[in-house]
Amino acid sequence: MNLSNRLESMQFSTIRKLAPFAEDAKKRGVSVYHLNIGQPDIHTPSTFMEGINNFTDKVLKYENSQGMDPLIESFIKYYLEWNIKLSKSEILVTNGGSEAILFAFMAICDPGDEIIIPEPFYTNYNGLADLASVKVIPFITKAEDGFHLPSKDEITSKITKKTRAIMVSNPGNPTGVVYTQAEIRMLADIVKENDIFLISDEVYREFVYDDLKYTSALYMKDIEDKIILIDSISKRYSACGARIGLVASKHKHLMAQMIKLGQSRLCVPVIEQVAAANLINTPKSYFTEVKKEYEERRNILYKYLLKIPGVVCEKPTGAFYIVAKLPVKSAEDFAKWLLTDFNYNNKTVMVAPAQGFYATKGLGINEIRLSYCLNTTALKDAMEILGIAIKKYVELNN
Ligand SMILES: Cc1ncc(COP(=O)(O)O)c(C=O)c1O
Repeated sequence: MNLSNRLESMQFSTIRKLAPFAEDAKKRGVSVYHLNIGQPDIHTPSTFMEGINNFTDKVLKYENSQGMDPLIESFIKYYLEWNIKLSKSEILVTNGGSEAILFAFMAICDPGDEIIIPEPFYTNYNGLADLASVKVIPFITKAEDGFHLPSKDEITSKITKKTRAIMVSNPGNPTGVVYTQAEIRMLADIVKENDIFLISDEVYREFVYDDLKYTSALYMKDIEDKIILIDSISKRYSACGARIGLVASKHKHLMAQMIKLGQSRLCVPVIEQVAAANLINTPKSYFTEVKKEYEERRNILYKYLLKIPGVVCEKPTGAFYIVAKLPVKSAEDFAKWLLTDFNYNNKTVMVAPAQGFYATKGLGINEIRLSYCLNTTALKDAMEILGIAIKKYVELNN
């Protein structure tokens, strides 16, 4: 029996598809440094675990579909610290930022409608767009420009009658770009002039380096009701397993309707909501320390990459990723080879081929995305090994 075209045409997650080869390597006794996935090793704040202890109910009941009041109130308080004013009716708690993205697509697009996204972009935007039968229309951003936005004309040239939104991740996954205020203003002007939405995925808001200033889309007051904010506690509090995120908008009708999507999955896990509500009590020093740690890791990763002959990349300024061009024909073949045929002192590294972060066929085939979610000692070792591997692979294939 046939399966749906929707499922058959969806891509496997590029980040996860090499996982079986990594498992085989581990079974052979080779240890694998994971530079492929954005799973931070930083401890989740103890406030979350304490929050779990706050749950004393005798029955684990369904909760309301919008999200529990204490959690929504804690989000409102959190945003005020960023100078963003949101009210209760403007927030819908979701199963991570992932569900927030799906809800945004489902809420504003009919099948075949288009969302314009700078590429490379977070690979799951592709899968989620497929789920919602939405077409991703990419425009290219380049490593040599630090993945900053192209001109307004270049972006508006992608707008058609089917365009419903422009979507950005700021700071960017996989690029590490942090958009300037002028860039966010330009996006605001485009959505205003063309009467479309701006979906702003800000899950890496806390991870901005080099003392750069962060600009939320919601700082653009004149387009407030055109913005759909995607957010999550996964990265901010190193709480990926909690599966708590949110979608927020000042578009009243959108939020009033979107609750139906929430109702279709009843509610978000309750104990995690209770625990997440307590995260607001996390000391500010947590963020200072985490940011310092990531900045140091970013510096290490970049320094090592610069030393590898043939590697091209720009220093990222946000999130915890970098896209690097390698002196290879197929980054996917290289990534697989690292797990199946290579080891150095019984160790190897796992990387994410960057092709899946593009929508345009043929782009990213010689690029990889690395995440710096390893401690500095492990990261240095992993980068030494990656350097040795690239040299060896190039020798073998030339
Ligand atoms: C840019 C971006 N948005 C959204 C997500 C989804 O995260 P989650 O569903 O864990 O909140 C991720 C995860 O890596 C991401 O990188």
